Amino acid sequence: MNKVAIVYFSGTGNTQVIAELIKNQMADRHVALYRVENVLHHIEEAKLSNYDILGIGFPSYGFNAPLIITEFVKRLKNTRNHQVFLFLTCAGPCYLNDVAAFGVKRILTKKGYEIIYEKVICMPANVLLRYDDELIKRLYDAAIQRTRWLADDISNHVRKIRNDRFLPYLFRWLFVPLEKIAFKLFPLDFTVTKECNQCLKCVRSCPRKNITLKGKIKHGLKCEVCYRCVYTCPRQAIKGRLYNLAIVKDGYNIHEKIETIQSMNAGQPLKGIYKTLESYFNESNF
Ligand SMILES: Cc1cc2nc3c(=O)[nH]c(=O)nc-3n(C[C@H](O)[C@H](O)[C@H](O)COP(=O)(O)O)c2cc1C
Repeated sequence: MNKVAIVYFSGTGNTQVIAELIKNQMADRHVALYRVENVLHHIEEAKLSNYDILGIGFPSYGFNAPLIITEFVKRLKNTRNHQVFLFLTCAGPCYLNDVAAFGVKRILTKKGYEIIYEKVICMPANVLLRYDDELIKRLYDAAIQRTRWLADDISNHVRKIRNDRFLPYLFRWLFVPLEKIAFKLFPLDFTVTKECNQCLKCVRSCPRKNITLKGKIKHGLKCEVCYRCVYTCPRQAIKGRLYNLAIVKDGYNIHEKIETIQSMNAGQPLKGIYKTLESYFNESNF
């Protein structure tokens, strides 16, 4: 029986949901789940060399991997043919998301890892737009299907690696340097309103230990821009100055949502910009 370790980053829960679904779909194997921040901060000891296959999961941030995932991958020891599969979550099926794993794949390959599988899974947006319950239900059902495909393919030694196509690659080359600058400005943009009662939930939940209480709650400069602090705050006291539009009003809680949508039917046709998701829903296991 192959042992599988899955190391994932999830700012607001979507990627965690997928990691848990993959674990359920691989019921015939021993699968251990690790949060990447716990591994990096030595809160959990993950002896990754004891596992036959490593899974790495993360959200697409501006068509790139989160910094914390890049840091984790850089710290991995060199190996010889240790098998890795990757899964990414994103908020749209935009094919530019294909390149979000580009940098991670390059580092892994240099370190001697053998990438055997990649899957991009579309989940509800945690910024800008609130997806309605029907769409969340459809995305969740599609995610269950896709994690089943992933588990079956890996069991059957089917390899699926996405090609780094020219256009997304060019886009990444142009866009990612600009995005690195923009992401550095995010922590400066966060502001804490007087609703804050200093419960410290944001401090404890920050994956980069970037939030401190110095008289008042302050964000340092190592922000992951994952929005976990924003949505963890029970009083919605963390706002953006310039980027406030990006915050989903009334918060974002995928675990709560999944519990409420489980029993509903999702039959309405997609409208407006959401029509772009139609091809995603119609996709078969390519
Ligand atoms: C800063 C930031 C940047 C994002 N950029 C993208 C993007 O480029 N493409 C995309 O489809 N979704 C993007 N998203 C949406 C997330 O990738 C998506 O909702 C993901 O499933 C969130 O995963 P998590 O809940 O595990 O953090 C972005 C979200 C954030 C917070």
